[in-house]
This record gives sequence, C-alpha cells and structure tokens, in this order.
Amino acid sequence: MEIIIADDYEEMSAVSASMIAREIQRKHDLVLGLATGDTPVGTYKHLVKLHQTEGIDFSKVTSFNLDEYVGLAPVHKNSYNYFMRENLFKQVNISPSKVFVPQGNTSDPEEYCAWYEQQIKLAGGIDLQVLGIGGDGHIAFNEPGSSFASRTRVKALFEQTIIDNSRFFERAEDVPRFAITMGIGTILESRKVLLIASGEKKADVVAQFIEGPVTSQITASALQLHSYVNVVLDKGAASKLKRKEYYNWVRDNKHLVQKQIGR
Ligand code: GLP
Repeated sequence: MEIIIADDYEEMSAVSASMIAREIQRKHDLVLGLATGDTPVGTYKHLVKLHQTEGIDFSKVTSFNLDEYVGLAPVHKNSYNYFMRENLFKQVNISPSKVFVPQGNTSDPEEYCAWYEQQIKLAGGIDLQVLGIGGDGHIAFNEPGSSFASRTRVKALFEQTIIDNSRFFERAEDVPRFAITMGIGTILESRKVLLIASGEKKADVVAQFIEGPVTSQITASALQLHSYVNVVLDKGAASKLKRKEYYNWVRDNKHLVQKQIGR
C-alpha cells in the first residue's frame, strides 16, 4: 500500500486525477471503476479539466460504478447514476454504451447483480478501481461484517451510513435502506486500486484500515490483501496515522525504493 499525504482537498483531488489520467494514457481502453460521494467530486473536476486541456481521451474507456441505491431510477436526483452524469460523464467524451452504473430500480436485483458481474468479466476486469471510504470504514456499500468473498449484491445499509448520507436527501426517512453494491471480492479483483479520503472526520477509519488489523468490521481493511493500492489523503484524513513520516519518506525517496526492487 502506498500512502500519499496531500496538503489539502484540492491537492488530493489533483494528485488522484493525474493518477487516473496517467492510467488512461497508458491504456486507452482502460476499464475504470468509479465511486460517488463528496470526496471524488474534486477528482472528477480535475479529470474534466485534464480532458479539456491535455486531451485525456475517454472515448475507449469503459466504466463501472461501485453502487446504487435500491429503488432509485437512474433519473432520480439522489441516484448515483445522476451524480455520475452531472459530475463526470456529460463533461467528457466517454461513450454512453461503455458506462455501467448499477440500476437501482431493477425488477430482479439478484439476476441484475449476476449480469453486472458478467459485464465486468466481459470487459476484461477492472484495471483501476477508484474508492472512497464511508464513516463506518466501508468501501462501496460493503457494510461492517461483509464477507471478503462477496460479489455484487443487495446490501442493507448500516444506521451510520443512512445518517451520513441523509445530507443529500430532504428527509432522513427518504434515504433508501438498501443498495446494490459490488462485493469486496469484486473490488479485490481489480488490478489496481486508488482510495481517496478527505477531512478529519475520516481520520479514525483511515488509521484503522491502513494500520489496524484486517477485519470485516472495517471493510476497507480488506485492501491490505491487495498487492497494488494507492491511498491519497489530505492532512485531515491522515491526522491519526502513526507512521506518517515513514509514508512521506517513501514518497519522497521513491527513486531509491524503485532502485532497490530493480524497477
Ligand atoms: C457512500 C458510497 C461510498 C463512499 C462513501 C463516502 O457510502 N457508497 O462509495 O465512499 O459514501 O462518501 P463521502 O465521500 O461523501 O464521504
């Protein structure tokens, strides 16, 4: 796991966007896993800018979003489908036929989830998965206790998640109680992972998932089992890490580290 501590939200967003852009430049038909929430909004803004100014080309990119609320149609203003269209898809040249966001109002969720997994396989698997982290340590909507072998499925939301996400809804009662979410097993199969987190309110779960034990109670800790994970934090989110100096040293001396491992 490589930990990059940026000064603030703006720098976290710029660094993560340039990491994604670099992957698209390396592989034009990148299969990109995408996340929603407040955290990636700045990253997407920077990606749009890179598309406009540096010509980062999304035309061959395929995207798969992590999750969606059960019951919300793709046109619903609180749906993750809507969020992605507004924050990224309509501002870059991604082909609508290559965009996959789970459909919350599907009539047969079980069959739909199996189909979604199949689409990821048919696309060749996810090359780079972007993740945020929930207040209870979840990735996507894999709430505490989720199996590390889990696949795309319907998951009941944890009380804290409902409270956290109620800020986007008119009333707390409007927050759906269930979501379709990629599983931890699905996420762990991505070739590379980029997790971003911002603000002191995330500091505890960030420290737990990076420096604590691997546990299904903090599902982001499953990433300790993945061989290629970049974590980009701002200072607030990194404030409870014990080994900050070590992470900063590794980042600043990457050339020496790479020399040692013969890259
Ligand atoms: C939701 C999403 C997660 C996201 C989390 C954090 O629960 N399912 O994918 O990481 O919110 O959101 P925010 O970035 O708004 O803190």
